[in-house]
Amino acid sequence: MSRARDLLVSTAVLLFGRGRPRLPERERIIPEKPGRPGWELVAVSLLGLGALAAIAFPLVYGLAKHIPHETQFLGLSLGLSFVLIGAALVVTGRHLIVTEEIEEDYPAEEHPEEQETLVQVVEESGDRLTRKRLFLLSLGGAGAALGVALLTPVVSLGPVFRVGPLLGTPWRRGRRLVDEDDRPWRASDIEEGTFYTAFPEGADKEDLGSSVVLVRLPKDRFQLPAQLARYPADGIVAYSKICTHAGCAISLYRTPMFEPTDPKPALVCPCHYSTFDPADGGSVLFGPAGRKLPMLPLSIDSSGGLRAAGNFDGPVGPSWWGVRLWKANPPS
Ligand code: FES
Repeated sequence: MSRARDLLVSTAVLLFGRGRPRLPERERIIPEKPGRPGWELVAVSLLGLGALAAIAFPLVYGLAKHIPHETQFLGLSLGLSFVLIGAALVVTGRHLIVTEEIEEDYPAEEHPEEQETLVQVVEESGDRLTRKRLFLLSLGGAGAALGVALLTPVVSLGPVFRVGPLLGTPWRRGRRLVDEDDRPWRASDIEEGTFYTAFPEGADKEDLGSSVVLVRLPKDRFQLPAQLARYPADGIVAYSKICTHAGCAISLYRTPMFEPTDPKPALVCPCHYSTFDPADGGSVLFGPAGRKLPMLPLSIDSSGGLRAAGNFDGPVGPSWWGVRLWKANPPS
């Protein structure tokens, strides 16, 4: 406890010592040594270069689209920053800080005289820093720049407030479901035991919210929560084809074709094997996905064609910070 207090006191003295009234002159404990402005310049320069390298990280990150091999530059800037700041600290430790071994343990009790001695040792140890404020400023600047660089990737977690562009999908009530060649899907085309891919008629098939998987299940298999009870149409359900883990396409359908018929049918993402239950609104059965597959409400028109009865019940694709701001708009 007393060691921690001594450490705090000595740190505070080192940082703010200039502002304190000086202790009365007394005999030095550590012999005075000349300052080393040359080494100070080296340390400050290394800190400055380290800060510049760290600042390059968010710049490269922001301009990534325009910079070829940006990943290598990101690594280079962060690595250089660590090396330069580390080198500055080594120079400081070896050439600017006077090291003094204390042979006896600190006493357990508080002893003002010994504490004053400790303060004096710390103050005199820093004597080689002739431009202490400049050095501390450089150290603080380099640390802050490095902190900003390390926090920059947080931006990749996605927006919190401007989430509208991420929530939009081409699906609207009444929009027809078509296949890859724009042929409308009819309910009678969809058989049990396999799955189909569908797109919104007339929309961009590359849009993140476009593609859905269609599955037909025996009606007695469904265990849908009440708010999704009206989403299937004649035993057919539709889910976003984009995995909610990291955005791969759901392209496997596990369905036992012979006894035993367990485990039950499931949509599977081939990337990390997230497994979703089509009978339970797309809930996660297994794997790293953090939330269920978004479900698209369906209807069947008078000619037997499949149509959307609204938008998905949740945001499409991998999650981001603002994903919980979604307000479901159930089909009427
Ligand atoms: S992207 Fe689907 S499980 Fe990882």
